[in-house]
Amino acid sequence: MTNEVPAIQHPGETQSNDLRQRVTKTEPLALRTFTPSLALLDKSAGSYHWTPEGRKLADFSSGVLVANLGHNPTRWWRRVFDYLGVSNLDESQEFTPAAPLTAYNAVNSLEVQANERLLANMRAESGGGRMEQVLWAASGSEAVQKALWASLAYNPKRDVIVATRRGFHGKKGLAGAVTGSETDKERDPRVKFISFPMVECGDVDLRKQPLDLEPYQQELDKLSSEVGDRLSCLITEPYLGGGGSYHPQPEYLQLLQKFCRDHDALFVLDEIQSNFGRTGPMYAYTHYGVEPDIVCLGKGLGNGIPVSAAVGRADVFQALHYGEASDTWSANPLSSAAVLATLDEFESGDVLAQGQALAAIIEEGLLRLKTTGVIDKVRGEGCVWGIECAACGSHEPEEVANECVEACYLGDRQGRAIHLLGPLAGKVIRVSPPLTMPPDELREYMEVMHSILASLRLKLR
Ligand SMILES: Cc1ncc(COP(=O)(O)O)c(C=O)c1O
Repeated sequence: MTNEVPAIQHPGETQSNDLRQRVTKTEPLALRTFTPSLALLDKSAGSYHWTPEGRKLADFSSGVLVANLGHNPTRWWRRVFDYLGVSNLDESQEFTPAAPLTAYNAVNSLEVQANERLLANMRAESGGGRMEQVLWAASGSEAVQKALWASLAYNPKRDVIVATRRGFHGKKGLAGAVTGSETDKERDPRVKFISFPMVECGDVDLRKQPLDLEPYQQELDKLSSEVGDRLSCLITEPYLGGGGSYHPQPEYLQLLQKFCRDHDALFVLDEIQSNFGRTGPMYAYTHYGVEPDIVCLGKGLGNGIPVSAAVGRADVFQALHYGEASDTWSANPLSSAAVLATLDEFESGDVLAQGQALAAIIEEGLLRLKTTGVIDKVRGEGCVWGIECAACGSHEPEEVANECVEACYLGDRQGRAIHLLGPLAGKVIRVSPPLTMPPDELREYMEVMHSILASLRLKLR
């Protein structure tokens, strides 16, 4: 039995449709995640993409929370090239002496600079002393895998990893093992799950109201009595991203940290989605009043160049021996240059303030979407929000969510269109524009989204 499905096609998109068909033939379905638009992104700049037909799409996804600085910022690219030493290529020369595109079994100064700059940035933001070493990786799941390897090696007599239900930490290896919940696949017996608060935000921000910690404390007490002396680490996220945009009260994360400290277990926070300003501060944990033993970084860390890292306590990482967490791409000079250039942009500019200024515009615009009848709930903070679709007529919320994504892609009568990712957790659409989107343009596209969804409501009666 094969999983072949026909390529998605949209009327009038000759070049895009051709490429959609060719990719379907030449790549397995498993490499794609479902989206009803399957946009062909030909070129990107700032907060916009262009299709091969020249249609402009406002990017409400930032890639997948990657382009926090926007797509292809000129000064950032210039800095990346400068770090690599390829700013002024002399094409009359066959080869250009520049940073090597390998650091395997060797060291390059960009790697050392990236270590020192990232650690200094994290220490300055958090004021704590746990951010001592950087364990680089290429993808988010690899950073999580390395963080968990180190945690298990740190105290080999302890084998239990605690994870929070409906989290997303990646698909590979141990990252996959701590994703989801105990019921949805064959599980690694070392992983035990506890509940994550699924708080509604919407018109009244419930995060500002105290959370009843008792049920969570009870789950932790049960764990403690069952496997207390086997607890290696606990991994969670600052908010449930892939699980449908649930942002908890700070006291929840504080409770988890206290539990870890009381049980000598390591507290690992997956900030792959939230790092570099997505929720407001540079790192979300600084606003939650916690300091994890290991923080996993990715996505926005390289603004689009593949790079990730587990950052944290040196004594924990030193439990791993020579080469145990090494691979071909970790700490390669291209990723190090991207991290350095991204840090330069955050440290020398006002990106965080720009992002914070957008938060109120997004919140207001999304709450107004509820008047269309298509959106039921709104949750989020900073520049990362989720809108949960309502049932419309005979259409289930899941179907409505896909219709919304497609309608935004196809755009309004004036040709203004929005790029959104396929829904999360079935019915939640993420809205996460670049932190650098100009406020007036964001307001305009919030309005565009409102009118598209209002028309969709009429269609879905
Ligand atoms: C919180 C979180 N952790 C880990 C990952 C996995 O990252 P990657 O897809 O780069 O492996 C993701 C990806 O969406 C994520 O959102």
